Amino acid sequence: MNSLADPRVADLLARLHDEADAQRRLIRDRVASLADEAPGPEAWPHHMKDFYLPVSREQGRFLYQTVRATGARQVVEFGSSFGVSTIYLAAGLRDNGHGVVTGSEVVGEKAETARTNLAAAGLDGHVEIRTGDARTTLADPGGLVDLLLLDGGPGLYLDILQLLMPRLRVGAVVIADNITDSGAEPHPYARWVRDPDNGFVSNSITLKGGTEYSVWIGLP
Ligand SMILES: C[S@@+](CC[C@H](N)C(=O)[O-])C[C@H]1O[C@@H](n2cnc3c(N)ncnc32)[C@H](O)[C@@H]1O
Repeated sequence: MNSLADPRVADLLARLHDEADAQRRLIRDRVASLADEAPGPEAWPHHMKDFYLPVSREQGRFLYQTVRATGARQVVEFGSSFGVSTIYLAAGLRDNGHGVVTGSEVVGEKAETARTNLAAAGLDGHVEIRTGDARTTLADPGGLVDLLLLDGGPGLYLDILQLLMPRLRVGAVVIADNITDSGAEPHPYARWVRDPDNGFVSNSITLKGGTEYSVWIGLP
């Protein structure tokens, strides 16, 4: 079974990606105007509340593949937005025959729309989206985590990862979007997960300009 080929899922994903693509110019304008206003990091998500900012289609398929390849049951997501990545993850869980994605979204209206989209895809039985700051809402995901997606802003990735590290099962996969090394310098998040003393084996993969793929093998 491949739920990505299910018309309810495929048609919805096609529409959501198209709507997100159509926002690119508006996003550039908003980011430029926010550069002048310089809102603090806590206010930033609320200024961007109308924008999808989703994973790419390729990243989405990669998330689905990873859920299937690992037989994941328990998936956690930092940054659900309107639920695009959540749909790919939940589709994989449905096809695995078990499991739940615990999503998180700090903007209430976005979380509500994500729930509506998951229901429209027929995948709401595999999803719980928690509204609020993920540093609090993800503190207890319930059970061991097989896959963690970090997509809520790289400035908080280490906080969320360290919050969830005690909950990672050995072999758990952590996928972090928007991690791009600058020249010879690794991104600070990448430097940390690539340090063997921290218990991960990690590589950059070529998806949407930089995605870090890490596997938890446990502290040495
Ligand atoms: C890049 S978007 C996520 C896109 C989503 N994964 C998708 O593929 O559709 C980042 C989202 O993280 C949310 N966010 C930012 N900081 C957060 C926090 N501390 N807790 C929960 N969500 C947060 C933002 O509101 C935004 O919707």
